[in-house]
Amino acid sequence: MPRSRPVGGTEPADGSFAQTVIRWQRAHGRHDLPWQRTRDAYRIWVSEVMLQQTQVATVLAYYERFMQRFPDVASLAAAPIDEVLGLWSGLGYYSRARNLHACARELMDRHGGHFPRSAQALQDLPGIGPSTAAAIAAFAWGERAAILDGNVKRVLCRCFGVEGFPGERAVEQRLWALARAQLPAADEGLIESYTQGLMDLGATLCTRTRVACERCPLQSVCIAHRTGRTAQLPAARPRRALALRTAEWAAVLADDAVLLERRMPSGLWGGLWSLPELQAPVAQSGASLNAGQVSHLLTERYGLTTLDPQPAGDVHHAFTHFKLHARVWRINLPARLRRPIDGHEWLRLDAVDHAPLPQPVKTLLQQLALSDSRLADRPERT
Ligand code: ADE
Repeated sequence: MPRSRPVGGTEPADGSFAQTVIRWQRAHGRHDLPWQRTRDAYRIWVSEVMLQQTQVATVLAYYERFMQRFPDVASLAAAPIDEVLGLWSGLGYYSRARNLHACARELMDRHGGHFPRSAQALQDLPGIGPSTAAAIAAFAWGERAAILDGNVKRVLCRCFGVEGFPGERAVEQRLWALARAQLPAADEGLIESYTQGLMDLGATLCTRTRVACERCPLQSVCIAHRTGRTAQLPAARPRRALALRTAEWAAVLADDAVLLERRMPSGLWGGLWSLPELQAPVAQSGASLNAGQVSHLLTERYGLTTLDPQPAGDVHHAFTHFKLHARVWRINLPARLRRPIDGHEWLRLDAVDHAPLPQPVKTLLQQLALSDSRLADRPERT
């Protein structure tokens, strides 16, 4: 157990923090996750990218499917982006998938299909920030590099009593200095257990709410615990109400298929397929399109006539900086009017589950398909 020591954290560490974390990880940490017990940088990289904003329990199934389909850098680089996005659908934060794909191609084109062998060099690749680079380097070849993801920030803020919102630059810099200062000594060869231990502590004991201090090996030195401030540290993001933006989308259905357009590569849900946007998200003004305007827009854009747009529900989604409220209009076209449209695809409703669509759009289309099949199943009235 480490002795208690002064607050500050950037003064040279005596190694006791790292020793405690390592001992705890070996006895109580996680050892059987599918990306552990390997030195394969590819397997480690994919797991770290999936785990950037997503919990282990959710990642597990996605990871297995991804690894089966793309067992190495070459297979991922050779795949069409839509297939990668399809396997990612539901994990969210799709720029991670696009970067993963771009990174695989860069590795093939410029590095002979291998990862450059240092945390510093890894950071030049798409989608690999300093913490992800350090995790890959530590797990794949035992490099002594500091990680600082959200879980680790929480552990450090609490244990060392770091004040301020960790998203602020000055606080984040202080945390990086702390993370580096607490690394185990170079000759100990224990960086893997230490790195995994910090992650495991943050994910299993030092959680955001319902902390398990009674089982924590750092309890006796943790400033937040000693001062009864685990609920206050780390400090919350300064509050600011999320603005609401509204958009209008069209669900044009013909012959059990729905018309989709590809979203711009940058921006919201970039590169994914989605419902044609009749009106891009705007600050809520109260004004919305009516059926006549929707019909007019679709005629202008696709040359479709005699439409009878019907409200088909709303899609709500919270992005980091605003809440989106999309109103969806349903248009049923006779099958004979279905024809190819530039930059668009007709997707069969029974193929929605594995298509590269944003999850809320997928959910809406699944509901539409379900209600259609219920209608079809209803006995005809005589
Ligand atoms: N979160 C980020 N990386 C992780 C890992 N390797 N194991 C468990 N959780 C993680």
